[in-house]
Amino acid sequence: MVQENDLKTNLTVCLVGLGYVGLPLALEFAKNGVKVIGFDVKEKRINELKQNIDESGEISSEDLASGPIEYTTNAEDIRRANFVVAAIPTPVDDANEPDLTLVEKASATIGKNLAKGAIVVYESTVYPGVTEDICVPIIEKESGLKCGVDWFVGYSPERVNPGDKEHTTSKIIKIVSGMDEPTLKRISEVYQIVCKAGVHEAPSIKVAEAAKVFENIQRDVNIALMNELALICHRLDIQTSDVLAAAGTKWNFLKFRPGLVGGHCVGVDPFYLVAKAESLGYHPQVITAGRRINDYMPEYVAEEVEKDLVKAGKKIEGAKILVMGLTFKENIRDMRNSKITVTIAKLKELGANIIGYDPNLTTEEIKDEFGLESVSEIGSGYDAVIIGAPHNQFKGLDQEILKSIQGKPVIFDINGIYKEELIKNSEIIYQSL
Ligand SMILES: NC(=O)c1ccc[n+]([C@@H]2O[C@H](COP(=O)([O-])OP(=O)(O)OC[C@H]3O[C@@H](n4cnc5c(N)ncnc54)[C@H](O)[C@@H]3O)[C@@H](O)[C@H]2O)c1
Repeated sequence: MVQENDLKTNLTVCLVGLGYVGLPLALEFAKNGVKVIGFDVKEKRINELKQNIDESGEISSEDLASGPIEYTTNAEDIRRANFVVAAIPTPVDDANEPDLTLVEKASATIGKNLAKGAIVVYESTVYPGVTEDICVPIIEKESGLKCGVDWFVGYSPERVNPGDKEHTTSKIIKIVSGMDEPTLKRISEVYQIVCKAGVHEAPSIKVAEAAKVFENIQRDVNIALMNELALICHRLDIQTSDVLAAAGTKWNFLKFRPGLVGGHCVGVDPFYLVAKAESLGYHPQVITAGRRINDYMPEYVAEEVEKDLVKAGKKIEGAKILVMGLTFKENIRDMRNSKITVTIAKLKELGANIIGYDPNLTTEEIKDEFGLESVSEIGSGYDAVIIGAPHNQFKGLDQEILKSIQGKPVIFDINGIYKEELIKNSEIIYQSL
């Protein structure tokens, strides 16, 4: 094993894509004394990062200032790196098919600017085969360099969890893989500079690619199961959380909860494996059933609010409804694929007037992303209140929410954060999942 100092002296890492995944990794390398180039196509992002501003709110300015990164939008700077890491978005299209356009474009950029001898590691979540079957040929074509001879490839999936300050890059085990043994060893050594908890060497790139989608599919399917049980509990007129608290006393009962599955990972990645499996002639059933249930939940919330309004002697048409917590989960600023948008759209379709409230977002962001007028504090005069992402700022607001509702209160508290306080009051029409 090469001494860490020798390794660092001869290493220049270039992060291609400085989002939720790329930026923290770039910073960890920089903090550990590695020369780091941070390349992104978004000029605004690069200009902000040069001023130590991370608009996602994930990394503080002080933290950013502590690791010197050379930020650039000039793709030619990639050529100065001998270790290139691509952390590019992998969304799905309108038909929930994998959309690899951005990864393909980034691969072309890397190919045009690749130094001979460099290692390229992909971090984007993909289906097994994307790195070797799609990305490698693009880089070979654009660079004119042969993979395995002139440059080398690997894959290392990311496990960052937005808003989670506990499971950060340095504290969690990272999976690494490489096209051959020497490449794997080199990738392993480089990642160990930042992954203090260690790395897991997967036997192949495809295994590492599959491991990442497996992780997220397992979570998606388990949440879907909880959502299905919540739908049954509703019909039984019992609280799901009471059942889970009771069942959870068994040593091997897994602690999942019902909820909306949004964001760009758990609700998206299963479609990647489904597409690959279907191309191989196998039609996944459990995975797709889970997706269907989870995708139905935001609509279910809207349907229930409509019914509850009727029970309260109100009408959905013209009802004024406050939706609190718009981000895809709690305590973050990430709005991508937030499933509360589906609830909002459905309620709007039924004629309701929706007002947004999210202390983590600006008025402009709420307008642009959700098409909603918003309030900077709870306010009053609502017919119903829906509590989405349970931000920390919402703790203890149960009575304020109650007072904000005119007539019989209708509250759909998706994650049940006010269950203890509100459920006992028979004057309130209260639901959680
Ligand atoms: N965010 C997470 O929690 C998370 C966790 C694990 C894995 N992932 C996966 O990691 C990948 C990246 O996700 P993310 O959340 O960091 O995305 P992101 O949208 O936050 O950031 C991606 C960045 O890549 C940049 N970019 C796009 N095309 C580019 C190009 N051609 N060249 C250079 N930069 C380019 C964008 O401008 C953006 O700044 C995805 O595959 C995602 O599924 C994300």
